Amino acid sequence: MTDPRLIVALDFASAEAALALADRLDPRRCRVKVGKELFTRAGPAVIERLVHRGFEVFLDLKYHDIPNTVAAACAAAAELGVWMLNVHASGGLTMMQAARERLESLPQRPLLIAVTLLTSLDDADLAAIGCPGRACDRVAVLAELSAQAGLDGVVCSAHEVSDLRARLGPDRLLVTPGVRPAESARGDQKRVMTPSQAIAAGADHLVIGRPITAAADPQAALSAIEAELAAGPSAPRLSPN
Ligand code: C5P
Repeated sequence: MTDPRLIVALDFASAEAALALADRLDPRRCRVKVGKELFTRAGPAVIERLVHRGFEVFLDLKYHDIPNTVAAACAAAAELGVWMLNVHASGGLTMMQAARERLESLPQRPLLIAVTLLTSLDDADLAAIGCPGRACDRVAVLAELSAQAGLDGVVCSAHEVSDLRARLGPDRLLVTPGVRPAESARGDQKRVMTPSQAIAAGADHLVIGRPITAAADPQAALSAIEAELAAGPSAPRLSPN
């Protein structure tokens, strides 16, 4: 299979809606992401149906629990045939190592990446939960901890990409949501970059939901983003927030 950079977020409330959208996309040109709402409503069957249609699936459940529990959940996700899954780096080094080791014991393992700090948390939110300091420093510490645990990469905002690329080197995957083509609505995303800006900064994969899933022609929206990426840095740029 090719290695498409685009991961379409299937943020739907039913398997039928998610699969109807997936049926309008080419699995050779994008991967798909299944998050907490769809998984909680539709269960593992929706993963199997997407895999059956030829999609590589990022299971975005952000596991955060004791090492044994997270490792077992990761093994269960691997059995579903997912391509990538994630855990919270704040679950600690031992937890991340346990997850990686369990996956490495399998004949075919999914990629394992870490969420550093939720982008919904700022410095004041951190202070309120008893963790004073700057959110950006915490992101750096947690990203480096995930690399120490041997994880394959991190989820990060486009604005964190260049710093994390410098810290983690070329081999870790940087998976970036909060991406908006220049002409598309930002929705509730505040600090966005265009796809070509995010790739130029060093992102490997872009998670994009509504600009594709809410488009009248989702595959055409995806093609427009591919064209933007092919045009590279000369593509239109968003004005900074
Ligand atoms: O529709 P939109 O492109 O905003 O969807 C982005 C996807 O990425 C959603 O599934 C959202 O949950 C996820 N995400 C995000 N910001 C993060 C982490 C994940 O938007 N910091």
